Amino acid sequence: MRNVFIAGATGWAGSELAKGIVKSENLRLVGALSRSHAGTNLAEFLKVESDFIPVYGNIENALNEIKADVMIDYTNPSVAKHNIITALNKKINVVVGTSGLTEADYLEIEKVALSNNCSVLAVGNFALTMVLLQKFAEMAAKYIPDFEIIDYAHEDKVDAPSGTVRELAYRLTQVRESQIHVPESEFKGLKETRGARMSGVQVHAVRLPGYVISVETLFGLKDERLTIRHDSGSSALPYVKGAILALEKVGSFKGLKRGLDSVMDF
Ligand SMILES: NC(=O)c1ccc[n+]([C@@H]2O[C@H](COP(=O)([O-])OP(=O)(O)OC[C@H]3O[C@@H](n4cnc5c(N)ncnc54)[C@H](OP(=O)(O)O)[C@@H]3O)[C@@H](O)[C@H]2O)c1
Repeated sequence: MRNVFIAGATGWAGSELAKGIVKSENLRLVGALSRSHAGTNLAEFLKVESDFIPVYGNIENALNEIKADVMIDYTNPSVAKHNIITALNKKINVVVGTSGLTEADYLEIEKVALSNNCSVLAVGNFALTMVLLQKFAEMAAKYIPDFEIIDYAHEDKVDAPSGTVRELAYRLTQVRESQIHVPESEFKGLKETRGARMSGVQVHAVRLPGYVISVETLFGLKDERLTIRHDSGSSALPYVKGAILALEKVGSFKGLKRGLDSVMDF
């Protein structure tokens, strides 16, 4: 049985996962982080049958008091790195669900993980259908040198691009960088309209009411094209199974792994 601590357990994604962990056979939820519910019992907040699950408002106090084997962070990018590094320095393995951490953040996190002999599994999107999109897009990038990504989300999403798209861009450019036909020096007009170049691929973020979370990976060849698209619904349920799998698998390696498929059998 693994003891799990959730940073962000009262949020949209964290609370759905917390309910999933309470029902799971291999994981035990031993504590949670949330400033607004500090000092309360998470089981009451979740309305689930369980032993007392203490909620803390401060990560250092929490991890000093709780015996956790693994922490999952589902907070926001402004505090996630601090939570992750605090956990690693206490020899606690980490699953990262929070989006918005940069490549530089991950380089630092990997160093801290290795120096503590711990593991970090960072997953921009735990949904199975998104994991499949990543795999299919990587296969397509092997054969098609021109591709761009469109990241769709609701109007109040604070980070852009999403963690899902950051991870996808990183992974596609491990296959190859997308070709550029008109270099920036020759570009005429408003260059921002071409999107941002991220890890070697052009990324466009759309933030509008009526959208939840979707990703389109567009591949173009002369006279033919391929679109691989993923759409999430409005509940956090699709992320629960994948996050539980990540919590069970983290610790089976040292250092940093990115993407759920890195611990899945494909
Ligand atoms: N990887 C995936 O598959 C996946 C899926 C869904 C969401 N996400 C990402 O997960 C993150 C959380 O999303 P969400 O929609 O669940 O957010 P949310 O509903 O705003 O929840 C955030 C949680 O973090 C806590 N929190 C925020 N700031 C904190 C701080 N400074 N100290 C301690 N706790 C803090 C909040 O509690 P208090 O405000 O009470 O502190 C709350 O419990 C986002 O980055 C989102 O993009 C990833």
